Amino acid sequence: MDSKLKERITKLEKTQDEFWNVSHQTGNFINMLIKAMKAKNVLEIGTSNGYSGLWIADALKDTKGHLTTIEFWEKRQSLAREYFEECGLSDIATFKIGQAYNIITNEIKEKFDLVFIDANKQEYIKFYEAVNPLLNIGGIILADNIISHAAKVQPFVEAISEDENYQVQILDLPDGLLMAYKIKE
Ligand SMILES: C[S@@+](CC[C@H](N)C(=O)[O-])C[C@H]1O[C@@H](n2cnc3c(N)ncnc32)[C@H](O)[C@@H]1O
Repeated sequence: MDSKLKERITKLEKTQDEFWNVSHQTGNFINMLIKAMKAKNVLEIGTSNGYSGLWIADALKDTKGHLTTIEFWEKRQSLAREYFEECGLSDIATFKIGQAYNIITNEIKEKFDLVFIDANKQEYIKFYEAVNPLLNIGGIILADNIISHAAKVQPFVEAISEDENYQVQILDLPDGLLMAYKIKE
């Protein structure tokens, strides 16, 4: 990892609670997974100030891929843009502003290898239904806060666990990360 990016990641870890960022371990895991599966096209739902996005973009630099990331809070998105610029990662990302469900269903037409869900917990079920047709076979859905917000994400966890097109595992990373591998359409 580039030293400027490492420095920014370390700085952002001081304000992780304020910006509801994923843990360092979760960021590192997503970064490794993208490189291991050679993912090219990644969608993130819930940019915040760009902490997880920086981990994702760093991996996509290796795979020559691209990140699309959605946030409805302008101030947070502008911080994310600033940090991506500072770390030389702006070319790797497209920042979308607005309600994620509307953007996914109305604006996004491309297919993804990996989708990371980390926004309003009660909407996870809607996000999953919206991204399912956009995910390539062999692609992965990751969703954070599966243990920390178990009650709110329960409808999503039940639905995806019962979907025979997916193989699902909840990983014991901080807050709980669900990983779902798309086997077939
Ligand atoms: C948990 S934080 C994301 C943290 C980020 N993934 C990280 O680890 O750095 C969730 C973010 O999603 C945004 N958000 C929540 N619901 C949303 C929605 N329906 N559409 C767009 N953004 C949403 C919030 O404003 C918040 O900044």
